[in-house]
Amino acid sequence: MSVLVVGSLNADCVARCDRIPRPGETVTGKSFNILGGKGANQAFASKRMGSETVMAGAVGKDSFGDRIVSAFAEEGFDTNHIKRADSCTGTCLINVEEGGQNCICVVPGANLDYSPEDLSDVMPALLGVSYVVSQFEIGSETVSELARLCRENGKRLILNPAPSRKTDKSILDGLFLLTPNETELSALLETDRTFKTVQAYADAARKLLDCGVQNVIVTLGTVGSVLVNREGTEFVPAFRVNAVDTVGAGDAYTGSLAAMLDQGYTLKEAMRVATAASALEVQKEGAIPAMPRREDVFAFLREQEKITKA
Ligand code: RIB
Repeated sequence: MSVLVVGSLNADCVARCDRIPRPGETVTGKSFNILGGKGANQAFASKRMGSETVMAGAVGKDSFGDRIVSAFAEEGFDTNHIKRADSCTGTCLINVEEGGQNCICVVPGANLDYSPEDLSDVMPALLGVSYVVSQFEIGSETVSELARLCRENGKRLILNPAPSRKTDKSILDGLFLLTPNETELSALLETDRTFKTVQAYADAARKLLDCGVQNVIVTLGTVGSVLVNREGTEFVPAFRVNAVDTVGAGDAYTGSLAAMLDQGYTLKEAMRVATAASALEVQKEGAIPAMPRREDVFAFLREQEKITKA
């Protein structure tokens, strides 16, 4: 049993500052870290939550690429499916302000060199795993082809439709699970509307079931997350914590969710564990450096249960 992540790997150039600068303004930052990309973050989350995880994607033949590949090797990943492409490694400029809010500008670089043809190299891995995870930081044709391969081979694909982009609806047909946040849900529904209540989000997400998606989990930040499928609606509230950096919170959620489903947890149980993983992620700086480990997530959950019972 294991998880395959096909997605982005980025050099995250993160500057922490008191507040995000306005256009034309320079502010002084406090710290800097590198290593991210939604695919990479989700792969680390899945592995640290105890599932055997394979990462497939592309970085450049540059020093950022070397650093990313080394970090994967150090974590115990097989790096054979990380292609070295001619373009520069994907780069992400991130400002994080006091309180943890961020703004991000991503330059995809080598992530777009991971082509539908490259998927033939991961077919043996794909056939052996129980869950496949992807996002929208790689080319849309690659994601479409991955969705087709999963459908044809009876593999459960978890798609985190981030960052939001116009989506070819054929990807959604037969998809096991979609994990949009509020903005990504609106983009998928091709609406500018925002929703005010959890129930309104659930009702909106339900429309995606008509496109053939089996399960939709909308992540609602500090509110929690809501699952809709043909059986009904389930809401899991977020834990109240002091966030210092929210970069990677959604990735902690999706990657942990995949790992827990891989380990036989139900969707509702997996949502609770994934919620705890994100709560730990946001309390530390960086995306991958902050990705929590299984024992810490379960210790946090036991602590929360004691608080609830007290
Ligand atoms: O989801 C967070 C990630 O989005 C960052 O690590 C950054 O690389 C961007 O891709």
